[in-house]
This record gives sequence, structure tokens and C-alpha cells, in this order.
Amino acid sequence: MEKNEDLKKEVHSFWNAQSCGTQFTDKEKYTKQFFEEIEKDRYAKEPEILEFAEFESGKGNKVLEVGVGAATDFMNWAKNGAELYGIDLTSEAVGHAEHRLELYGLKAKYIKVADAENLPFEADFFDIVYSWGVIHHSPDTPKALKEIIRVLKPGGKAKLMVYNRKSILAYAFWLKHAGFKFKWGQSVADVLWNKMESYGTKGYTIEEIKELVKDEGLNSVKVKTVITYYDKLKRFNKLMQVMASIILKFVNKKTVGWFLTIEFTKN
Ligand SMILES: C[S@@+](CC[C@H](N)C(=O)[O-])C[C@H]1O[C@@H](n2cnc3c(N)ncnc32)[C@H](O)[C@@H]1O
Repeated sequence: MEKNEDLKKEVHSFWNAQSCGTQFTDKEKYTKQFFEEIEKDRYAKEPEILEFAEFESGKGNKVLEVGVGAATDFMNWAKNGAELYGIDLTSEAVGHAEHRLELYGLKAKYIKVADAENLPFEADFFDIVYSWGVIHHSPDTPKALKEIIRVLKPGGKAKLMVYNRKSILAYAFWLKHAGFKFKWGQSVADVLWNKMESYGTKGYTIEEIKELVKDEGLNSVKVKTVITYYDKLKRFNKLMQVMASIILKFVNKKTVGWFLTIEFTKN
């Protein structure tokens, strides 16, 4: 396996070329139409974010978002009156956040390039740490998780999402990139690592996440999965979509969704 820093450079160069979600608009960069189209597309495809994040809970609280990307959720924390801090590995993402806040007359306390594996904040500082679809891209995901726990205040809450390796989308992705190509020895993990977004992407299981956090002194740990737009295989052909709709009738929806959400409170 590549050294952490080499892999992180690859992750950086992938996301610095284009922030997540910005591929769904052709409007001029940094204009209101540009950001509004990104937001509309995001919450149409991933409405579960709104329920999970509870942006209104940020009001008056110190909130850190790890991996802001195109800053759609970041804006929503700001709109809801959070005392807001954000970081991302890329200057491209930080640029989106800065332009977006300025365009809407909103402010963050802090928005800078930084690494989730080495958060530039003191311990026991935040009421809420939020991170959607980020730490599975970082080479040392357990370290990023430990950092999130470190910077949370006792009683502070984390709300995180990582990809689920045992999901309908992950298996369909395997079929597309390995199964249909007769590469039956290739694992789902290997396909995700090589083909899902930035190089080195990982998928976790509910059990693996519970194991990772079990000795960290946490309360109210909730780890579950959400069936998403992606599990309905909307980006695959019709036949695969019909297959997904049949499978979805029989499986436990709490375990086979692509989004694996993690919530806990620090002791
Ligand atoms: C899939 S995007 C998600 C962005 C945003 N949270 C969203 O939901 O649209 C992944 C983001 O994670 C960031 N990222 C990856 N590794 C990181 C790290 N070690 N530290 C900070 N950000 C990281 C990338 O730069 C990218 O912006």
C-alpha cells in the first residue's frame, strides 16, 4: 500500500481538480445560479442530509465541518446561526466556501485548508463536528475519527457519514467493474479503492465502525445505513434498476444502504 502522504497527494489532486457536486451545473463558477443549482441537485438526490444534519441545531453552537467540498452544507450551518469552523484538504473547496459565504453575506469564524488527520484545533472545543462523505477518502480514516473525537467537547456530538461496503451500490459497482469483466477474484474493497471517486476510497461496515469507536469513551453511539438514490442504481441501466427495486423489497433497509451514518456524544 502507498505511504500515507503519497496517497494523500492523490486524494488532494483529485478533489482539488473539481469539488464534489460542481459537475452538476454548467452555470458560471461562483455565481448565485451556480451555487443554487448545486444545492438543488444535492438535496434532491440526498434529502437524508437535511434530516441527519439538523442544521438548525447549530444555532449558537461551535460547529466544525470537516471536508466542506462545494460548501452546500457549510452554507446551511452558517444560515442557521452556527459559530462556524470549516476545513478541507483542498484550496478549491475553501475557495467555494469563501465565495459562497460572501455572496450571501454570511460569515464563518474559520475556513482554511487543513487535514482531517491533524485538525488544527485544541482538544474539547466543538459542540458539533459534522463530516459528510469525507474521512473514507483520507488514507488514515481511524486517525481522522480520533481527531474528530479529540476536538469535540465532553457532551459534544459528532455526525458523520462514510460509505457502506456491504451496500447495494457497492455490490452493483463491483458487478460493473469486476463481475461483468470476469475479474471474480477482485474484492468489493479493491474496486472501491480503485474506481470510486478519489484513489484509495474505502467502504466500511456497521460492525467495523462500531469496533473503531468502541474504546473511545463515547455515549449514544448510533451507526446505521440509509438507502439512497445511488442504491436505487439510478446511474446504472434499466435492468440493474429493476434488479435493485426487487432486491430492495426483501433486504433489511437498515443495513444495505450506501450511506453509513455515525452519531455519538463524547463523554
Ligand atoms: C466527496 S467530497 C465531500 C465534500 C462535502 N462534504 C460534500 O458532501 O459534498 C470529499 C471531500 O473530502 C475532502 N478530503 C479528503 N480527505 C481529506 C482530509 N484528509 N482532510 C480534509 N478534507 C479531506 C476532499 O478534499 C473533498 O472536498
